[in-house]
Amino acid sequence: MNDLNDYRKQIDDIDRKITELFQQRMETAGRIGEIKRLNGAPIRDEKRENEIIEARLEQVEEKWQPYFLRFQKNLFELSRDYQKSLNAQQEELLNNHADFSPYSDAAFKATNRAHNDAKLRADATIGSLHDEQGRLFILDSVYQSYAEIDERTKAGYADHIEGSDEFNQAVFDWLNRLNNLSLPHRSVATPGGTGAVFLPLANSLESGQHLLIPEISWGAYRTMAATLSLEVATYPLLEDDQLSLNGLMQASLEIMEHQKRLTVIINDPCHNPIGLSMGKENWQKLITFFNKLSQQGPVTIINDVAYLDYCHDPLQATDYLSAVNAIEDNVAFCIAFSCSKSLTGYGMRLGDCVILTRHQQQADHLFSSYCRMARSIWSSVNNGFMNTFVRLMDQHKQQYLEEKQQAIAMLKKRSDLFLSQARQAGLAVLPYQEGFFISLPLSGRKAEQCIEALEAAHIYCVPFGKAIRIAICSLTLTQIDGLAFRIREVLDQI
Ligand SMILES: Cc1ncc(COP(=O)(O)O)c(C=O)c1O
Repeated sequence: MNDLNDYRKQIDDIDRKITELFQQRMETAGRIGEIKRLNGAPIRDEKRENEIIEARLEQVEEKWQPYFLRFQKNLFELSRDYQKSLNAQQEELLNNHADFSPYSDAAFKATNRAHNDAKLRADATIGSLHDEQGRLFILDSVYQSYAEIDERTKAGYADHIEGSDEFNQAVFDWLNRLNNLSLPHRSVATPGGTGAVFLPLANSLESGQHLLIPEISWGAYRTMAATLSLEVATYPLLEDDQLSLNGLMQASLEIMEHQKRLTVIINDPCHNPIGLSMGKENWQKLITFFNKLSQQGPVTIINDVAYLDYCHDPLQATDYLSAVNAIEDNVAFCIAFSCSKSLTGYGMRLGDCVILTRHQQQADHLFSSYCRMARSIWSSVNNGFMNTFVRLMDQHKQQYLEEKQQAIAMLKKRSDLFLSQARQAGLAVLPYQEGFFISLPLSGRKAEQCIEALEAAHIYCVPFGKAIRIAICSLTLTQIDGLAFRIREVLDQI
């Protein structure tokens, strides 16, 4: 039998080979990085990484697979770091974290292509609500309130970096419309929901740590993570095409085990782009789970409620927040509210980050840290629109509710039509409930191929990871009529 020294010799030999191969691999990764840089391609190609992992795992004995997975992911990370460092050497004006490959947003790019298509059949790329005439949908009550704000107020700075007390109170009251929140809280006004997601994200993780986001989700989460030098881990929301919390819980456990800290984004209700809402019971289960997990390390839950006000029953939509009252000592619950959708005020760039914790001092500490960051990035927010929100809630709330109900009814007609025709056409659709978007599963197809084929048929959509997003919010009923049949025909040819 071999003794310890023999085994060590064998390991030394293996390590020598690995060392040699490692250097060859890094060298090659550097050359690939150079080609990517010249072509303006991003350093990370997550889709390719996943394909490689899948293929390699098949070659690995089952008992080694979890270890091999970590090994392969580490290799990817090291290659990316090396490619970034080479880039940084080439562009001394930027720091090592800066990614200077040309920035492009898939949704904006697809919208531009749709605009240039003379035979356009449907532009389902735009994530804002349009009316049945195809124009941006505007809530009159909001713009009446805006008109009632005097010019100096609109022109002036906000009173505080965190926004005005009246605005923060009005947002809190709006979220707490069922009077079901009893936790200490603080709020920081932000430029849109984007800022409200960014603050807790940027202040809870160390660079290099993993942020947990839904597998199919809004692309800006990844951009924020990259900007902050964070890695991204994902959780599936669906199991057998039904809402399931298992994937989220499993991924949370793994991250906590690995980095002893968890920050997770939950885009609920009306998840973009699936259109699912979890409901109070699921939230109760989640809060119980996160409380338990928080015994191992701090948990920050970012609840992105950008589409909250388009639930079918908007007045009951915040029902689930009562579950949040149960959060324990080591948990922060941050609600990212956006006036873009709730007020049809996309360009007004206003949102609010509401921090809820078990103890007032924790909320105060998070608040101070968020305020500093706000001051350093955007300073204060749109004063005129903050005042508009306060006035709307104070003077025109009934009209606002009625108008929004019309918008919700309009969206529902569109989703009903698309879904019923999808059923007739046999077009697979992910389980939609409510909100701006309906998503189609790729069902083994490649996203680019689907997008290309649909665009050839003058239908424009945005790829969202393992799904294709149809923005029913910006399609008229006439444009939706027949769309599912046409999409089915096109996808069948792939
Ligand atoms: C999921 C999600 N969260 C947040 C936002 C925030 O948008 P804004 O910064 O315009 O409020 C959006 C906008 O598209 C979104 O889709």
